[in-house]
Formats: sequence, structure tokens, C-alpha cells
Amino acid sequence: MPTALVTGGSAGLGAAFACRLAADGYDLVLVARDRHRLEQVAAAHRRDHGVSVEVLAADLTEPAGLVAVERRLTDGTRPVDLLVNNAGVESDGEFVDVDVDDLQEEIDLNVTAVLRLTRAVVPAMIRRGDGGVVNVASFAGYLAARGSAYGATKAWVLAFTDTVAATLPGTGVQVIALCPGRLRSDEPGHVKQGRSALWLDPQMAVDRCLADLARGRTLSTPGLVYRAVVATLELPKRTLRLMARLVGRGREQRRVPRGTDTTMRLAG
Ligand SMILES: NC(=O)c1ccc[n+]([C@@H]2O[C@H](COP(=O)([O-])OP(=O)(O)OC[C@H]3O[C@@H](n4cnc5c(N)ncnc54)[C@H](OP(=O)(O)O)[C@@H]3O)[C@@H](O)[C@H]2O)c1
Repeated sequence: MPTALVTGGSAGLGAAFACRLAADGYDLVLVARDRHRLEQVAAAHRRDHGVSVEVLAADLTEPAGLVAVERRLTDGTRPVDLLVNNAGVESDGEFVDVDVDDLQEEIDLNVTAVLRLTRAVVPAMIRRGDGGVVNVASFAGYLAARGSAYGATKAWVLAFTDTVAATLPGTGVQVIALCPGRLRSDEPGHVKQGRSALWLDPQMAVDRCLADLARGRTLSTPGLVYRAVVATLELPKRTLRLMARLVGRGREQRRVPRGTDTTMRLAG
């Protein structure tokens, strides 16, 4: 059975990932702070899908929590085939009003944890020649407008995923950024939700993301409206990247003799 580790796998979008992956036969490692809620979710997956589910209670904004999850990801005896960096936080309020510790928490969870967990798992995936990483970004990453540091952290997730993806061709490992707009939620405490096409079903977002990952894409945008806007915004960047690659390849061809195996350089 392949194994997937999902951060924030006990609620919202992370729970939707866990559900779909368990239904696909993945064994799960679920990470979040609230152990009781994790145990409840884990019991449901074991019962409904017959998969094995590990519960890893950890606060990813704390060094000890981060190290515990890194250790699990680097445990060679229990390889993780798919990492879903889903846990994320958004502070309410304007940048100048939000407590600086809350801004720091956005960076710690939305940026540092994503960087460190990806860095922990990818080398072993490259050695095995197989694996995948899903980084949950947000449409807010394109619109870092008013508010806290949230949009900026999600812009980082998008750029980071592109950076990692650029090092992976030929390794068998894939990375994708999921870029949802507003997600519907049945959980109490969530903001009032509209009925327009701008409100997305989390399960649909997950299905689309995993299908895009299987197609080898590096960006998944659920919802027609969001997809159209993101495709337009991405066009200049993709054109620039293609040109840079063509120029780079020209230089490479001059430097590297024909027939040289460059795989080790990519993996190293
Ligand atoms: N909701 C939206 O409309 C929307 C739109 C675009 C993108 N996103 C992104 O989608 C992802 C999931 O959002 P969501 O709305 O589904 O979240 P959510 O319903 O608030 O659930 C968050 C999950 O992350 C866990 N978590 C929170 N802080 C954590 C920490 N410090 N360490 C470990 N686990 C932690 C929570 O469990 P515990 O509380 O037990 O730790 C929970 O399982 C986020 O990255 C978010 O930025 C959401």
C-alpha cells in the first residue's frame, strides 16, 4: 500500500484529501495539533476504507513538532509516497493591526513547515525514483491585497513549488501547487458562504488536484473562473520560463558533451 502524509488532515481541505486518498487505498499519516480530533478521523478511515492510519499530533509552528514530522518523513523503513502540505493559517485583520506573533505563525506554518517537510521527503523519493508532493497555496497568492501576511505566504508557496519542480524532471518525483479560491465548509465558525461559482467544493478541488498531479502538471486551479484568471496571469511567467529554459539549454549543450548522463547532477 502506498502511504500519504497529510498535514492538517483532520479538518477542511486536509480531511477531504485524507478521505479521497484512503478511498484510493493509501495508508495515511495524519498530522494536526488536536490528537482527539485526529483519532476520531483516523477511526473513521480505518472503518470505512480498511486502511492503516497513523496519528501524529504535532504543532508545525513549534520546532519539536516540525522535527517529529521530519523524522517520520525520513524514516527509511516506512517510506512516504505522497506528502500533502495542507495545514495553513490566515490571520484576520489588517497588517498593522494583527499581532506580530500571529503574522509570524503564518510564516512558520504556511512557509517554513512547507519548506522543511518538502526538503525532508524529496531526497528519499528521488532515490526511490517515485513520489509526489502537493503544496496547498491559494488564489490569494495572486492577489496579495489587504490583510495579513497570508497572500504573501501563498505567493511564496507558488514560487517555491515552481523552484522544486524545476529540479525534478527525470527523477520520477512530482510536485504540484493547489491554488483554490474560496472553499465551502460545513464546520461551525466558518464565514458565511455564497452560492456563486466562486465557492468551491473541497472534494472537487482535491479530485482535480490529484488528477492534475497524475498528468504531471505543477499547478492545479479548481473552478472555471479561477482557472481562467490564473491561466491569464501565468502566461507571461510561463513564456519567460520557457525562453530561459531554451537559452539555458543552449548554454548546457555547449558545456556538456553529448551522451553525458545528467541524472546524478539533478538528484544530488
Ligand atoms: N478555506 C478556504 O477557503 C481556503 C482557500 C484557499 C486555500 N486554503 C488553504 O487550504 C489549506 C487548508 O485550509 P482549511 O480552510 O481547510 O483549514 P481548516 O479547516 O482551518 O483546517 C486546518 C487544519 O490544519 C491543522 N492545523 C492548523 N494549525 C496547525 C499547526 N500549527 N500545526 C499542525 N496542524 C495545524 C488543523 O488541526 P488542529 O487545529 O488540530 O491543529 C486542521 O486539521 C490551508 O493551507 C489554507 O491556506 C483554504
